[in-house]
Amino acid sequence: TKSKRKYAKKTSAPLTTQGGVETLSQRTLRTGVQLSVLKADITAVEADCYVHPTANSVSFGGEVGRRLSEVGGEALRQNLAQHANVAIPVNGAVLTGPATTGLKAAYLIHCNSPSWNDPDCVQRLEDTVKSCLHRMRENNLKTLAIPNIGSGGNHFPKQTAAQTILRSISQYFQTRPADEPRDEKIIFVLYDQQSVQVFQTELTNLVE
Ligand code: APR
Repeated sequence: TKSKRKYAKKTSAPLTTQGGVETLSQRTLRTGVQLSVLKADITAVEADCYVHPTANSVSFGGEVGRRLSEVGGEALRQNLAQHANVAIPVNGAVLTGPATTGLKAAYLIHCNSPSWNDPDCVQRLEDTVKSCLHRMRENNLKTLAIPNIGSGGNHFPKQTAAQTILRSISQYFQTRPADEPRDEKIIFVLYDQQSVQVFQTELTNLVE
């Protein structure tokens, strides 16, 4: 079909690998931000920071969180114990690190992931992603690995989460100062095949 041809064209450029994991699709937005889609466990990926979807405090109750805790190990848990009392506001995100742990990222951005049943949950996810990007930018971090926030323990449909996250990233960078370096890399690290598929489709269809 036409859309398949279009997709093949966009992905025909040589693709990079991240920590040995092959990139499935890639697109650079007009704002200079490079977006990549990978199918992997987030802990396999090298990045400056990972987004950790959690609730209103730093805890490891979600699917990604459990894996981060497992691989980050005692060093991670000790580091985060210092932040146990930090409240993460609705729509907010909190950065921790740099810390040397079992993870391949020195920083974590813990966000207050909305639940599919929350009022205005799509708007909330959009604002939550913008908070993550804000933490990244103000700390001058360049590579961010991000899962399909909301679509695990918080039950967002995979496609709605993907569309919302992509729209949020696209919008966020459109408002930044013209003289700012434009060298960020955002890596969508997806675990289930449905998320991989919807991110690839939505990345192709994203209108800037
Ligand atoms: N690497 C990358 N992605 C993963 C991994 C992994 N190792 N394991 C699961 N996923 C995917 C899930 O398939 C889902 O698409 O990450 C996405 C997000 O899942 P969760 O981590 O459960 O995040 P979320 O749905 O936002 O729920 C977080 O968990 O901490 C609790 O209740 C708290 O509200 C919070 C919720």
